[in-house]
Amino acid sequence: MNHPSWNANRFKIGVFSANADGGLTLTRVPERWAAQWDAIARVACMADRAGLDFFLPIARWRGFGGEMNSRELSYETLTFAAGLAAITERITLFSTVHVPMVHPVFAAKALATIDHQSHGRAGLNIVCGWNPEEFGMFGLPPIEDRYAQGREWFEIVSRIHAGEAAFDYSGQFYELRNVTGKPLPVQRPRPLTVNAAFSPPGRDFAANAADALLTSFVDIPKGREQIADIRGRAARAGREVGVLATCHVVCRPTQAQAEAYYEHYAVAMEDTAGVDHHIGAKAKYSGSHEAEAYQLHRKRFAGGAGTYPLVGTARRIAEEMIRLAEAGFAGTTISFVNYESELPAFLDGVLPILKEAGWRAA
Ligand SMILES: Cc1cc2nc3c(=O)[nH]c(=O)nc-3n(C[C@H](O)[C@H](O)[C@H](O)COP(=O)(O)O)c2cc1C
Repeated sequence: MNHPSWNANRFKIGVFSANADGGLTLTRVPERWAAQWDAIARVACMADRAGLDFFLPIARWRGFGGEMNSRELSYETLTFAAGLAAITERITLFSTVHVPMVHPVFAAKALATIDHQSHGRAGLNIVCGWNPEEFGMFGLPPIEDRYAQGREWFEIVSRIHAGEAAFDYSGQFYELRNVTGKPLPVQRPRPLTVNAAFSPPGRDFAANAADALLTSFVDIPKGREQIADIRGRAARAGREVGVLATCHVVCRPTQAQAEAYYEHYAVAMEDTAGVDHHIGAKAKYSGSHEAEAYQLHRKRFAGGAGTYPLVGTARRIAEEMIRLAEAGFAGTTISFVNYESELPAFLDGVLPILKEAGWRAA
């Protein structure tokens, strides 16, 4: 990915969904992530000091039901990034912004504010949304073509960030008069931008607008095909776009311990009704995964919302990450059952192996 603000690590790593209870899991284990601010702040500082590349929150407005109602508690992501800007030094702080819920003029100003507070470390993760229960909270009807609105939204944000003189905007979704916005972001021409999607229209949106696509994949060969497809779409738009993978991590001293814990939290202790609700709603309303993934990989949905499992010793996890890098992924997100107790083993065990293999400077 060649955004000027992005550092030199050839394979980026970022922490995903620490702002929400359960993280990305749907489990009932007592150590599940409670997403309390002080613990999140400690995790963000730990990731920052260790040289991880980004901190990426999930955007959620309600929980997934079941026994735990996971993600009911989640911090709003723009104010979340602003808070973390004050206590971190190097790490990129994404805000995950819902196009239909957040007006682009507001989003442009909020992102520029975070970019100043963090001295150029704001990131924008555009999500066009899929969950009708959340749309209902805002009085919004489910959207027919989510990316048509996304394109207008992003054009408005980009024009404000470019510093264009006051402009009118007339589109299908926005009719705006005399739009301006200062301060401009520190990053030029705009903050690092990704969008989270799986479907062909989502890939096209990234190909035309973003620095990278954040996506799900079922296995590395399929991931390789997705990367080729996205690169082709970007090339047709005369652009280069990175592809970020999404993974959940169980790192333990032995392979058997890691697999036993994965089985424990994601099978024996899955939040059954929560997983059913999540899978049912996603299969019906969102194109974020391959159709067969929901039933084939139920454990992955309890384990990490359908992301790819990295389960084993630090060496095994590092080798799997190197396979992702060699397949062409620009990096990955990671998530844990308990970020604070589990991130240290990842940092101490996995990062040195990636550094030795030449994929990371830190
Ligand atoms: C890796 C990944 C992360 C996502 N994160 C969020 C999120 O935080 N909040 C949200 O409402 N939707 C999220 N989405 C859903 C997308 O924004 C999009 O609405 C959904 O994938 C359906 O669009 P698609 O068919 O183009 O993939 C995510 C999707 C993917 C693949």
